[in-house]
Amino acid sequence: MSSTPDTPALTRAGDADASDTAPPSQPCIMLVFGASGDLTKRLLVPALYNLACDGLLSKHFALLGTATGDLTTESFRARMSEDINAFHTRNEFDQEVWDDLVSRFHYLPGAFDDLDVFKALQHKVRQLDQEYQAGGNILFYFATAPRFFGQICDNLHKSGFKDGPGWKRIIVEKPFGTDLSSALKLNAEVLSNWNESQIYRVDHYLGKETVQNLLAFRFSNGMFEPLWNKNYIDNIQFNVSEAVDVQGRGGYYDSSGVLRDMMQNHMFQMLAYLCMEVPVSFEPDAIRNEKAKLLQSVRNYTPEEVARYVVRGQYGPSTDRTQNILKPGYRQEDSVNPNSNTETYAAARFHIDNWRWEGVPIYLRSGKALWKRGTEIIVEFKKAPEVIFRGTPVTSLGANRLIFHIQPYQGIEVQFQAKVPGPRMRLQPVHMRFGYGDAFKASRYTGYEVMIYACSHGDATLFSRGDLVEAAWRIAQPLLDYWATTPADFPNYARNSWGPKAAADLIARDGRRWHEVVNEEVLRKVPLFKDGDMVFLEQVIMALRSKQVDAGEMIIRKGDIGRELYLVARGEVEVLDDDGHVMGVLRDGDIFGEIGVLMCVQRTASVRAKSGCDLFVLDKTDFSRILRDNPHFASAVERVAVERYSLSVSASALASPT
Ligand code: BG6
Repeated sequence: MSSTPDTPALTRAGDADASDTAPPSQPCIMLVFGASGDLTKRLLVPALYNLACDGLLSKHFALLGTATGDLTTESFRARMSEDINAFHTRNEFDQEVWDDLVSRFHYLPGAFDDLDVFKALQHKVRQLDQEYQAGGNILFYFATAPRFFGQICDNLHKSGFKDGPGWKRIIVEKPFGTDLSSALKLNAEVLSNWNESQIYRVDHYLGKETVQNLLAFRFSNGMFEPLWNKNYIDNIQFNVSEAVDVQGRGGYYDSSGVLRDMMQNHMFQMLAYLCMEVPVSFEPDAIRNEKAKLLQSVRNYTPEEVARYVVRGQYGPSTDRTQNILKPGYRQEDSVNPNSNTETYAAARFHIDNWRWEGVPIYLRSGKALWKRGTEIIVEFKKAPEVIFRGTPVTSLGANRLIFHIQPYQGIEVQFQAKVPGPRMRLQPVHMRFGYGDAFKASRYTGYEVMIYACSHGDATLFSRGDLVEAAWRIAQPLLDYWATTPADFPNYARNSWGPKAAADLIARDGRRWHEVVNEEVLRKVPLFKDGDMVFLEQVIMALRSKQVDAGEMIIRKGDIGRELYLVARGEVEVLDDDGHVMGVLRDGDIFGEIGVLMCVQRTASVRAKSGCDLFVLDKTDFSRILRDNPHFASAVERVAVERYSLSVSASALASPT
């Protein structure tokens, strides 16, 4: 389990503080199983600290940690006090708040299968309950491997934890099962002693403000709901790209893969929010009913459909230009089977077989070790008819898109066509953007604050109900079954690439393309842009246009006047000398032709597509306009031009419109 603090706090610009409007969490003793593990230090404790800082943690709160191992209350507090330095998410650290919080942490070691341990825990919880006046409320947090869930539930029941005043609620971490049958079994185990209303299954994506906002956006804005169906929407794309590899979690990941790790849970949650029917209210079960119904409407594939609509990938090593290995491929990672067939990438087209979405392709893709980190949902609308533009220079129209930027950039964007100023009718795609950072206070939450807070108030909206988890596994199971019996041609994509080519082919077969979102992080890899501020980079991003070329196509020719820069999003291009010999190969993430945006000079080499490529293009006219808008940056570009390309070009010439 890993997550990053991308979630802004719930405060709006202008609000004095969240604590002005929200009451603190309800009193409780939080009993954390697996308290010595990664999740506790990286996410739970920083989240509690954030709640405490914002006045949202009850004074009648204490934490009792337990796990095997020989920690004591003192050593647990000392360890947490050290770890919080690395994992807190605030700009300033408030020692006073921390000291108060950590003084409420306690620890009791023990094994999860030992009933005596549970009796001791119960005794300790009672003591703490009196000391902190928690009213008998207990929040059990299962931050352990799922194989312990059933046993812990059983022992909690046997040791009498269910009795007494106050509420008893259980937060269960993912993964909830490893396939359909294990999830059904786990549900049965957990529910044999507890009620569904007491079980809070975590999916940390639901803690992200940008994910929660999908509902707010859909149901609080009258202008979109009428368009939200097969009559107006052409396709929807969910993209979760991770730049990180398995980060030392090979042991876990090798028995998981991206379908179990990302799609079956996080991505299906987003899918449900985006495509569900309108709930009758914002009551937890009203929302959860609609989410479950939506996932139940997703077609469960036959093996033939899996073969047709789903592709998988696994990353190979990254190499330098002379093919030396820079970083290992997945099969060479620690604790990974050297012949592993576990997928680190998947792309799929799903069908929602209901009235609203019938026939609208729903594309999902996610992978590790890709060239950028970014989670986006792209809603692509049907195109306007081109026929009315006949007789004008407009030959084709782009689609309108609504893009939900989930992370790391957080915002919402609408893309549409606008007339280019001038005497003739020419069109250019333009954007309107809302950025969270501009409209809201940017204090960062881990996403777990809202989970702990909501659970303490008995609000299950952000947690998965058993029927949703089951429906999600029913969609995933045919893919798992098919893959288990079909050989994989792995590795099939290089680290830092855009993923396997088969993913591009999958969507191309439908006559569509993945909409690639370039973000600030990607642009900063380009030397010319690396020192640019957000405003500058945003403008560059908006000016980029995408271009696809086929294998063998010449992209730039030596001797031609260069007026644009190219960024390779996917594929490989060859740089050719005068005799047509290949001097080098550029691939995903590389740029070429950058001198073309600095000055209009002849190209010094030709570049040809070695494979089919997705490229981003930046025109000199746009770059000059951006430099005019950001004059402070023109001198930085002037410096890079000299240092990197030995080009002497003045800032005013760079910004000149001609
Ligand atoms: C976790 C997965 O659930 O989510 C990780 O186990 C993945 O493999 C992580 O990296 C992604 O979370 P986020 O919040 O960084 O998108």
